[in-house]
Amino acid sequence: MFTQSELKAQVAQAAVEFVLPRLQLSSVLGVGTGSTVDLFIDAIAVHKHLFNGAVSSSERSTRRMQKLGINVYDLNKVESMVWYVDGADEINSELEMIKGGGGALTREKIVASVAEHFLCIADDTKEVAVLGDFPLPIEVIPMARESVARQLRMLGGEPRLREGFTTDNGCQILDVAGLRIAQAKEFEEQINNMPGVVCCGLFALKGATTALIASQTGIVQRESPAA
Ligand code: 5RP
Repeated sequence: MFTQSELKAQVAQAAVEFVLPRLQLSSVLGVGTGSTVDLFIDAIAVHKHLFNGAVSSSERSTRRMQKLGINVYDLNKVESMVWYVDGADEINSELEMIKGGGGALTREKIVASVAEHFLCIADDTKEVAVLGDFPLPIEVIPMARESVARQLRMLGGEPRLREGFTTDNGCQILDVAGLRIAQAKEFEEQINNMPGVVCCGLFALKGATTALIASQTGIVQRESPAA
């Protein structure tokens, strides 16, 4: 039996093998955040001479990449990006995801929005039929925390402030339990429309293009039905 950490390392290596042939010397790669991505950064750093550099979705990933000698660019200086690689907290068969367990959801969504393709890397504990068992992270402007929380309660959620945590953008996170998100795109739009919401951890309006999922029997590649 492989441990979850071993599965994460396997899928990180598979992501390097997937993405490298798709990169050119001039390519800038979008890089997400989390323990799976940490392993991806370690594995791709060996090949840093084969691509130009990366745009990072967090201070954590920036520090790790810079330490390993990967050029990290300001997104404002990058016009296009073909691939964005990131993990997920939950992923369904449509390749819609809940993200933000590590608190980097806003920058992740920004960088992913610029990339043509999103490669999700995860172990099979993240696969679900319906999103929502993992509490949905929502980044909020601090003064709007309670008004957003009230609206989320009206939608059947149980929001809880992530205590002692401030995002890279100086905001707070509400983790919303008790949701069963069957219509993820509509739900994401509804939350995006609440004043004071900076970012919703649902990645459904723009989900993953491709997912590599590690299980005890190997790595499976899934493609978005929308692609
Ligand atoms: C961070 C994220 C991560 O991708 C998600 O939490 C998965 O993390 P891990 O690879 O550590 O399981 O969205 O904001």
